Amino acid sequence: MNPTINLKTPLIRLTNLEKTLGWTGQLWAKCEFQNPTGSFKDRGSVVEINQALKQNKKGVVCASTGNLAISVAAFATQKNLPCVVFIPQQTSSNKLKQATTRGAVLKKVINYDQCVIKAKQFASQQNYFLCGNYELRRYGQSNIGLELATSGIDFDTFVVPVGNGTLGCSIAEGFAVYGKFPQFLGVQGLGADPVYRAWKKNKVITQIKKPQTVASSICIGNPMDGKLTLAWIKRTRGQMVAVTDKQIIDAQKFLAKTEGIYVETAAATTLAGLQKTKTKIQALTVVLILTGSGLKE
Ligand SMILES: Cc1ncc(COP(=O)(O)O)c(C=O)c1O
Repeated sequence: MNPTINLKTPLIRLTNLEKTLGWTGQLWAKCEFQNPTGSFKDRGSVVEINQALKQNKKGVVCASTGNLAISVAAFATQKNLPCVVFIPQQTSSNKLKQATTRGAVLKKVINYDQCVIKAKQFASQQNYFLCGNYELRRYGQSNIGLELATSGIDFDTFVVPVGNGTLGCSIAEGFAVYGKFPQFLGVQGLGADPVYRAWKKNKVITQIKKPQTVASSICIGNPMDGKLTLAWIKRTRGQMVAVTDKQIIDAQKFLAKTEGIYVETAAATTLAGLQKTKTKIQALTVVLILTGSGLKE
C-alpha cells in the first residue's frame, strides 16, 4: 500500500443478490462510492494534487465527465490551488453544483473529447497542472487492486465500467503486484462502446464521434487507455460487454432494491454486465467495482 494514500473502501458480500440471481459462487462489491467525494476518482486526485504542489503550478485544470471535476476541486481547494474544469454539456446539474461549490471554475464544451483538447491547451498556456494524467491516476487507483488482492478472498473476476479504461487497468495492475490475474470484465454503454467493438471484432479501436449512453460518466468515444484495456483483457482472459440504457437503469434499481445500495448509472453497468454474462460465470467469485454514488446524478 502506498503510505501517502490513506483512502480505503469497504468490501462487502452481496448475499441478497446471490440468492436472487441464484449465484452459485460469491458476489462482492468494492464500495468505491464511499470515497470522500463519492467516487473512486479521489484515489488519483490525492496523487495528482501532490504533484501539482511539488511542481509549483499556479493551479490545476482537467477535462471531466463530472466525477473527476468534483474530486480534483475538493483536493485542490484543500491545498489552496485554483481549479478549472472543462466539462461536457451533458453533465448533470447536480455534479456541476458539487464541483462549483467546492470552488471549481467550469468551462462547458460540446463533448468529452473536446474537453481533453481544451484542458491540455489551457494547462500549457497558463502554467496549470493538467489533472487526469493517466500514469498518476493509475498509480493512485491501483490501490483498489492492492486492497482486493490482500483481502483474503480469491477473486476469479472483477467487473468494472470502462470509459477511458484507466480504472480497469489500474485495478489489474494492483492485483498483478501480488501475482494475481483475475479476469477483467469490462462494461460499456451500448453506443459509447469503442473498446467493446474492437474487442468483439479483434480489431484496433476506432473512435466513436458521437458517443451516447445514459451512463454519462463513461460516455467517451476516444478512450485514452483503450489499447491498454484490450491488452489487460487478453492477459487475464477477460471480456468486454456492452449494455443498453434500459439494462443500466434496471440494474441500478435492482441493486437498490436487493441490497439497498444506490449507485450512479456508470457503476450500475457492472451489475448489468454481470447479468448479461451470468450463465458463463455464475460459479465464480466475482467483485463488482461500484465506482460512484447515485447521489451524484
Ligand atoms: C463513476 C465512474 N465509473 C467509471 C468510470 C470509468 O473510469 P475510466 O474512465 O478510468 O475507465 C468513471 C470515469 O469517469 C466514473 O466516473
